[in-house]
Amino acid sequence: MHGFVKGVAAGTHALRGWPSSAYRASKVGLNAWVRVCSREPRFTSRGLHLNAVCPGWVRTDLGGAGAPRSVEVGAASILAAATRGPSGPTGGFFRDGAPASW
Ligand SMILES: NC(=O)c1ccc[n+]([C@@H]2O[C@H](COP(=O)([O-])OP(=O)(O)OC[C@H]3O[C@@H](n4cnc5c(N)ncnc54)[C@H](OP(=O)(O)O)[C@@H]3O)[C@@H](O)[C@H]2O)c1
Repeated sequence: MHGFVKGVAAGTHALRGWPSSAYRASKVGLNAWVRVCSREPRFTSRGLHLNAVCPGWVRTDLGGAGAPRSVEVGAASILAAATRGPSGPTGGFFRDGAPASW
């Protein structure tokens, strides 16, 4: 992520394969952080699962009134991942309870 910030400052981020969107880059960083940290003993030793979730395009302040999903539907996507229990996955990225690509 520091590379993205430095690349933007130097005008070279696109040459290095970064998107020209801080929002998208931040989500890549978040998903990578989840994947890396989910394997760290400080989490695994305590049985903690780390997953990232996409709620879909939701009608919030950020998503705007034109988004197709209600807050309830977006929250259900998050709950689906948060309630998988001890045998559930860790280090993944999910949408509506299913693995999603990123
Ligand atoms: N909406 C979508 O379509 C969509 C799609 C995919 C992913 N997401 C992700 O879902 C997350 C939430 O999005 P949203 O649509 O709910 O956004 P939102 O409507 O803009 O709400 C953001 C919330 O975060 C709080 N917040 C912002 N900065 C904070 C800080 N520094 N410390 C504590 N709270 C802070 C805000 O609090 P205040 O109200 O007090 O300012 C607000 O409650 C974001 O990470 C977004 O990228 C959203």
